[in-house]
Amino acid sequence: MTGVDLEPRADASGVPGVSFPEGFLWGVATAAYQIEGAAAEDGRTPSIWDTFSRVPGKIVTGDTGDVAADHYHRYREDVALMRELGIGAYRFSVSWPRVVPGGSGAPNPRGLDFYSRLVDALLESGIRPVLTLYHWDLPQELEDAGGWTNRATAERFAEYARAVAQALGDRVELWTTLNEPWCSAFLGYGSGVHAPGRTDSEAALRAAHHLLLAHGLAAQSLRSELPSSASLSITLNLAAVRTEGTRTDDLDAVRQIDGLANRLFLEPLLRGRYPADVIKDTLAVTDWSFVRDSDEPAIAAPIDLLGVNYYTPTLVAAYDGRGSRQAADGHAPGLGTPWPACESVQFPAQQGPQTAMGWSIDATGLEELLLRLHRDYPGVPLLVTENGAAFDDHVDEAGAVHDGERVRYLSEHLTAVHRAISAGVQVRGYFLWSLLDNFEWSYGYSKRFGIFYVDFETQRRVPKESARWYRQVLAANGLP
Ligand code: FCB
Repeated sequence: MTGVDLEPRADASGVPGVSFPEGFLWGVATAAYQIEGAAAEDGRTPSIWDTFSRVPGKIVTGDTGDVAADHYHRYREDVALMRELGIGAYRFSVSWPRVVPGGSGAPNPRGLDFYSRLVDALLESGIRPVLTLYHWDLPQELEDAGGWTNRATAERFAEYARAVAQALGDRVELWTTLNEPWCSAFLGYGSGVHAPGRTDSEAALRAAHHLLLAHGLAAQSLRSELPSSASLSITLNLAAVRTEGTRTDDLDAVRQIDGLANRLFLEPLLRGRYPADVIKDTLAVTDWSFVRDSDEPAIAAPIDLLGVNYYTPTLVAAYDGRGSRQAADGHAPGLGTPWPACESVQFPAQQGPQTAMGWSIDATGLEELLLRLHRDYPGVPLLVTENGAAFDDHVDEAGAVHDGERVRYLSEHLTAVHRAISAGVQVRGYFLWSLLDNFEWSYGYSKRFGIFYVDFETQRRVPKESARWYRQVLAANGLP
């Protein structure tokens, strides 16, 4: 901790403000498939999302990421927007099939060159690049060979990580292996609402293990390629799991979902062991024989930071098989389940205000999560790598986008982060999701998370009120 001024401060009007520690990293986040477009340019081959988005009915709007926000061609303009905002760091992801077409073999110099130019443009603007290697766009050829259910995919990932480190390691200091492996495994292979759209609980658990192994093997290749000053991290979408019930079964539902959403990832990463209760809960689905002796130590390779993505709390209750089972877990309904062996758990709808995703707005979940990580896994500095909200934004006749609800959401969540810091949690930075409106996975372009509105017809970017507000936050290093 920097030990600097964490106390609320009085601003000129005498109203107490909230100021963050000196050196706090303020950023915005995006992901390759959601913004880049240029799907078939400069040697890029299809990823599982190119394939999945073409399957009728999988994307509610029928959209694909073929053009997206055309960031591949407009990255200079987008870096200029960030510079105007006063952004300190930019979290972006590298497209694996752009850099290693087909997923294995020699890297593609034209693909690497795009990221090299992007990194240079960021550094010239005084913005720290924060690079994520995998934000869900697995090369289709690797999926054809079994995808994340195939152990070899983890090895291919470590090779790809090495290629990116060799090209960008001289300029990028902060590296993240995976974004939200829970989603890759359980939405991709369990419920099937994300690519590749498989619906098999055994495959989902196997995929989760191979993703974690991929992280561990990539950590090794990154450490061997990068200067010792580089920081390594992984980003998890952790859940603040709650119940309103008081029965033993309700509390057990909390334990089960906390196990699958949080501890299945946190325990092997930070303590070198899969949680015994999760293994036991899921024995009817898999015997876990895909975990080899050397895997857990590999997964526990030391990390310098843990990335946390948070949007909404998770409410659970016991389900006794009577009546219809409530399924408001925040994810679109799929043909399969993202919660293996959880037949006795349900997800009641939450009361109160919601975003356009139908996600309940409750910043106390973020504070709770940060405090819990600090308590259970002390000594691991945290980064909030995603937080933000979708609302039904419109450009009005005067050309403005009034997104006061987003400003309120962000301000409440930043206050929660500040409270956690004041309680002693080491939170090193905050990345707002997202810079631009983009391809929101199975919702296509229908959900707008950006602080810049994107007119997808003209690709014009329009700053929303939240962009102007965020600029003030960055200038003040705190909430006005
Ligand atoms: C997260 C994803 C990100 C974005 C937000 C809304 O789960 O990491 O790509 O879709 O949700």
